[in-house]
Amino acid sequence: MSWKDETFKHISEIDKNIGKTIKLRGWVYRQRAGKNNAFIVLRDATGHIQCVVRKESAFFSLASGLGIEASIELEGTVKKDERAPTGYELEIEKLKLIGESIDFPINKDQSTEFLMDVRHLWLRSQKMTNMLKARNYMIGYLREWLKNNEFWEVHAPIFTTAGCEGGSTLFPVDYFGKEVYLSQSGQMHMEIAIHSLERVYTLTPSFRAEKSKTTRHLTEYWHLEAEEAFVDNKGNMEVEEEMISHVCQSMAKNHSALLKYFGRDPKEMKSIKPPFERLSYEEMLEELKHKGVEMTWGDDPGAPQEKALTEDRKEPIFVYNYPRGTKAFYMKLLDEKHVACADMLAPEGHGEIIGGSEREWRIDELKQSMETFGLKEEDYSWYLDLRRYGSIPHSGFGLGIERTVKWILSLDHIRDAIPFPRTLNRTSP
Ligand code: 4AD
Ligand code: MG
Repeated sequence: MSWKDETFKHISEIDKNIGKTIKLRGWVYRQRAGKNNAFIVLRDATGHIQCVVRKESAFFSLASGLGIEASIELEGTVKKDERAPTGYELEIEKLKLIGESIDFPINKDQSTEFLMDVRHLWLRSQKMTNMLKARNYMIGYLREWLKNNEFWEVHAPIFTTAGCEGGSTLFPVDYFGKEVYLSQSGQMHMEIAIHSLERVYTLTPSFRAEKSKTTRHLTEYWHLEAEEAFVDNKGNMEVEEEMISHVCQSMAKNHSALLKYFGRDPKEMKSIKPPFERLSYEEMLEELKHKGVEMTWGDDPGAPQEKALTEDRKEPIFVYNYPRGTKAFYMKLLDEKHVACADMLAPEGHGEIIGGSEREWRIDELKQSMETFGLKEEDYSWYLDLRRYGSIPHSGFGLGIERTVKWILSLDHIRDAIPFPRTLNRTSP
């Protein structure tokens, strides 16, 4: 079985084969047997097609007994048929069972918990298949934009010794008797790499020991992190909004059917263009006050605040220059109280999808900040070296892939934005 074998067509090629006899293979999506006809809806990676086997056929009894998700090979003639759910019908002339499927465990209306238990089978569903396709396209457009704008892809490690986003969400690992951590972020390694390549990015899993059960937290997620030499916080926001707009525009232009499947009007995605609205931290507080949502200066906006800020908006916004105490140690101090940073919040209540900042590139200020945060210099010696040898102003950001997929596909829960979600009590399949 060569991968270049053209004996079998794909369902997506059906419209080019009307009236022709072709071979297809795939899985039984639906099956219904009557007295005179047996109907099979076949699915493959590219779509679905209704197939029919007549009573007179030698394959009628095989077709009538096929289980949901049995794998089959067939040969038949393509007809255009307005009544068929897929617009075409294939009249089966030959049928072969590849792998049987008896009592496939997923029927209609099953609980979310059950579908998570059988994720290895649920991934075949139309919803999951379409999510996988959309996610694949989105990641492709992110990479495309970065490549077109002179970013080099560099890979950050996963075993790390120093935390980037605070100790409380670190996952410790026994590394030959020494304690190391699963990476929370590749940022610090990207900061290393800009000194050779200037603009870099990594797409790496990040790990957060988050004990919170929410619709937007995973313990393992895919993190796209970019770092840019000689760029300030303002420039960093421009990079982010250009990149996100490219993804939205491309999805609207090339994958409108997928967006529509998820109930997303492609026009909404098409209208997402830079510049995005920018609110300073204090302007955000004002707006929240106006909306009757409480928050005191110095607090980090949580889910209720992000919801209030974004539920009536149609485009992402930036909230910039947060108080020092709400953010990580590496952000550049702007004045006594603020750091140069920005979070991008997705509209319609989805909330934060990107966290970014200008980095503290001055060694004395960085050491001062580490002291304030209670971090030991010896744990960050290589990070400080970057400030010792040819330090430069720079900025960067991290985008959560699943949060972005959740927003663009308008999903209720982050678990449906990743094939194999890892949450508080879920590590299988
Ligand atoms: O805001 P965060 O924590 O920022 C960083 O890690 C920076 N070091 C990134 C950088 O500047 N290179 O995380 C960045 C993004 C968030 O905006 C969110 O989209 C996603 O990562 N994220 C999560 N996604 C799913 N589950 C979680 N538990 C997440 N925590 C963060
Ligand atoms: Mg953040």
